[in-house]
Parts: sequence; structure tokens; C-alpha cells
Amino acid sequence: VFGKVSKVVCVGAGYVGGPTCAMIAHKCPHVTVTVVDMNKDKIAEWNSDKLPIYEPGLDEIVFAARGRNLFFSSDIPKAIAEADLIFISVNTPTKMYGRGKGMAPDLKYVESVSRTIAQYAVGPKIVVEKSTVPVKAAESIGCILREAQKNNANLKFQVLSNPEFLAEGTAMKDLANPDRVLIGGESSTEGLQAVAELVRIYENWVPRERIITTNTWSSELSKLVANAFLAQRISSINSISAVCEATGAEISEVAHAVGFDTRIGNKFLKASVGFGGSCFQKDVLSLVYLCESLNLPQVAEYWQGVINVNNWQRRRFADKIIAELFNTVTDKKIAIFGFAFKKNTGDTRESSAIHVMKHLMEEHAKLSVYDPKVQKSQMINDLAAVTSADDVTRLVTVETDPYAAARGAHAIVVLTEWDEFVDLDYNKIHDNMQHPAAIFDGRLILDQKALREIGFRTFAIGTAP
Ligand code: NAD
Ligand code: UGA
Repeated sequence: VFGKVSKVVCVGAGYVGGPTCAMIAHKCPHVTVTVVDMNKDKIAEWNSDKLPIYEPGLDEIVFAARGRNLFFSSDIPKAIAEADLIFISVNTPTKMYGRGKGMAPDLKYVESVSRTIAQYAVGPKIVVEKSTVPVKAAESIGCILREAQKNNANLKFQVLSNPEFLAEGTAMKDLANPDRVLIGGESSTEGLQAVAELVRIYENWVPRERIITTNTWSSELSKLVANAFLAQRISSINSISAVCEATGAEISEVAHAVGFDTRIGNKFLKASVGFGGSCFQKDVLSLVYLCESLNLPQVAEYWQGVINVNNWQRRRFADKIIAELFNTVTDKKIAIFGFAFKKNTGDTRESSAIHVMKHLMEEHAKLSVYDPKVQKSQMINDLAAVTSADDVTRLVTVETDPYAAARGAHAIVVLTEWDEFVDLDYNKIHDNMQHPAAIFDGRLILDQKALREIGFRTFAIGTAP
């Protein structure tokens, strides 16, 4: 039914759709890849010299493939009509209304793409769910597509699950050399054929033994579980950071000692001011909601704990800053180093910086922020969404260099682990601050001893004062 795939279309030109399709185009010169989006401005940016997202290594690949076998377009019907294989790579944010508010993922964009495919498809299509979705979402997509099939004998659809595991900031490396590619599908002859076609695409650069094929539901669930396990490791180490601060144990030493056990492993054990990003919280909440819906309250409660610790860690860090600045930060200038949810990205979704700054703004601190990749308008919008536009105008300034942000400040708070923060001239910074000057390292990147020698009071996650 499904011929050899030569035309791939991706609906959703975001952090996943853009980089993933750029990699497919780069590695499969015989395949034409078209990325479409309903946001015309975003498509215009993908077609310009300044791409809408920052990812190390992305520009080079896009600029080389664009116009050759990689295209960005707003003509969704045409792209769908021509495609052999369609990735659905749209956002699935936490629902902010109605049933499942604050927990369930909003599947309206996924459903809307399914209906668009049903409307404009003209022949056989392999439809690939790349967005992160709850278990059984492929069934809804399939149901909508089967309805279209009833009216048109030329249509044939197979829905596959192919979740994405890239992390922002290292997306191109992760895509070029993934730990694994996961493909879920039906075990019918047509299902197996569709899976084989998608395997064939990835085989152009991923060793076959790293391409895992499963049934559809295992694939969908594995994505939620992978993110839940990763988030759980961070909450685990962050919970222990509080024990360290109270006892004199050092979190980095504990993480090192524990992670040396090969069964535990040393990755993803970096204590922090809490995990951010568009997915960990969303996907753990999605798992919690799924378990509640399945009448498994004990499982739901277990995973909810991961989120609770994360929120507590952010609050705890903000409280620490207030306490150490003599229990009042009212009208005090505090420099915020870093706003992105991690280094090497301009993405701020669910960044812990937003939450820590909100807590400090509630105490009327004057915040002066610097981040090398986040736009000023983005910071202002993010903060206004959790406080108010007036508060932001009154309390927040955005600087384009860290020395200006720290000038006259009582404290520096490191919220993103940008490499450039390590090598700043802290002698110069200290000279221009209010004294005593304090540094709160929420990312464990600075040399506490050297800073203390300069004259700073230092506080770091998981380190006893
Ligand atoms: P994003 O918000 O960056 O991009 C989604 C895009 O889809 C937007 O540009 C939006 O305009 C477009 N879109 C929405 N509905 C549409 C429609 N009906 N027709 C056409 N375009 C439409 O989202 P993202 O970060 O790329 O995430 C996409 C999915 O991938 C989510 O389910 C997410 O959980 C998952 N995921 C994300 C990451 C990540 O690092 N960001 C990693 C793995 C998986
Ligand atoms: C994460 C996963 O790592 C990806 O595999 C997954 O595909 C993706 O979510 C997704 O589904 O969206 P991402 O959120 O981009 O990727 O970035 P991570 O490197 O996982 O970092 C997430 C947050 O955890 C960041 O705020 C980071 O600073 C924090 N973190 C990470 C820690 O606090 N400690 C660590 O040891 C690791």
C-alpha cells in the first residue's frame, strides 16, 4: 500500500519540527522535506537569515539544505496532498481550562492537524505522531482518518507513534546521534509496512540496533515515562540538596559518589534551582492525570511528588535569598544572571527563573536581569504573566551585559548555567556592588572559594553555609 517514502511533511515548525526535519533533510538527500505551520511569521523566519529558534549547529544545516530538499511553507493543504509521510509535531501544552485544567495536555492542535490531513489527503499516507501525547492518542487520530477513508477509496492511513527525545541546547547532536529512535505501530501487514518505511528513513544515519519498534501504546507511554524518570532524578537530587545544606554534606560530592554506581549512573544528577522547560512538568502532569483517569491514585500521587519537590525547590531558593539578605529585599537591587530554562537555548518556557523572580518581586525586590540569548520582550511577557505588567515596569530592568546588571546590586543570583558566567571578572563586579555583596548560585557553576576570597558572601544549592 505504502510506496517508498520520498516526500516527508512535518506539521509544526517549532523546537522539534524544525530541527528534526533539518536533520532528515541533511541525512537523506533523496527525500524532500517540507515543514509547514499555521503561523506564517514563523515560516517567514525559517526562510530568513535569522531562524526563529537558537540551537547550536542548526543554522549551518538549515542554510545548506534549504531550497535543495528542505522547504518551509504555509501552504498546508498542498504539502499534505503531496506527502507520503506526515509528522504531526505540534504543541501539546498543559490545558488551562475545563476538564483536566492544569494537568491534562491539550490535544486540540493534534486533533486539528488530523482533521486537516483527513480533508486534504489524496492517496495513501503514513501519519506519524511526533508530538508527546497520552497513551491512546493515536486511536483518536486513526478514528478521524478512518472516517475520511469511508468516503474515498483511494485514501489509506497508518498512524505511527515516533516520540522525540532531543533536548534543547543539544538538539542537533541528539538528532545526529540518538540513544535510540522509538517507533510504535500496529502489527497488521499494513502497520508493519508503515513502520518499515519510517525505519528506512532513520536507517540513513541511525544504526539499526538503536531503532526500537514496539506496539503503538508502548511507544506513547515510553515517552511520558522517559521524561518522568528524568524529572524524577532531578527532584531526587534536589530533595537531597536540602539535606546537604542542613548537615554539611556537599551535594556535588554526594551526586558523584552515588552516580559512580553503574546501576545508578552519573548523568542527570546536577542539583539545581529546579527543572524548567516546556516538557518535564507538562509530561509528568500528563502521566499523573492519566493515572488518575485509570483509577490508579497511588501511582498518580507518586509522580505528583516529583512536581511538588520541584516547586518547593524554587520557593526554597527564593526564601534562602530573602533570609540571607537580612530578611528584607524590599527596594534592593538584585542581579539575575540567566533567564533561559537551561544554557544554550533562548527558550524560557517554565523556566525556574520566572518562578524565583516572581517570589522576589512579591517582596518588592528590584531585579536587573541579563541573559545572553533571551529577548527582553520575552522576559517581560513571561514575568507579566505571573505577576502584572505594572509590577514588571516598576521592578524589572533588562540589561545587555552582566556587569551592568550587577552594578550597585546587593546580590547576584545565578539561575541559568551559561558558561560565560564562570569566566566573568568577579573582582570588578564586586568592586561595583553594594557591600556586603552576596552570590547565590542556583546552578553550582561558580568557584565558591575564589568568590569568598574576593569578599563575596556565597550561597549555593546543596552546600552548607
Ligand atoms: P512549539 O510550540 O515550538 O511548536 C509547535 C508548532 O506547531 C507551533 O509553531 C504552532 O504554530 C504549530 N501548530 C499548532 N497547531 C497547528 C496546526 N493545527 N497546524 C499547523 N501548525 C500548527 O512546540 P515544540 O517544542 O516543537 O513541541 C512539539 C511537541 O513535541 C510537543 O508535544 C512536545 O511535548 C514535544 N517535544 C518537545 C521537545 C522540546 O524539546 N521542545 C522535545 C521532545 C518532544
Ligand atoms: C528534556 C529531555 O531531556 C529530552 O529527552 C526530552 O525529549 C525533552 O525534555 C522533551 O520531551 O521536551 P529539555 O527539557 O530540552 O529535554 O532539557 P533537559 O536537558 O532535560 O533539561 C530540563 C531541565 O532540567 C532544565 O531546566 C535543566 O537545567 C534541568 N536539569 C537537567 C537539572 O536541573 N539537573 C540535571 O541534572 C539535568
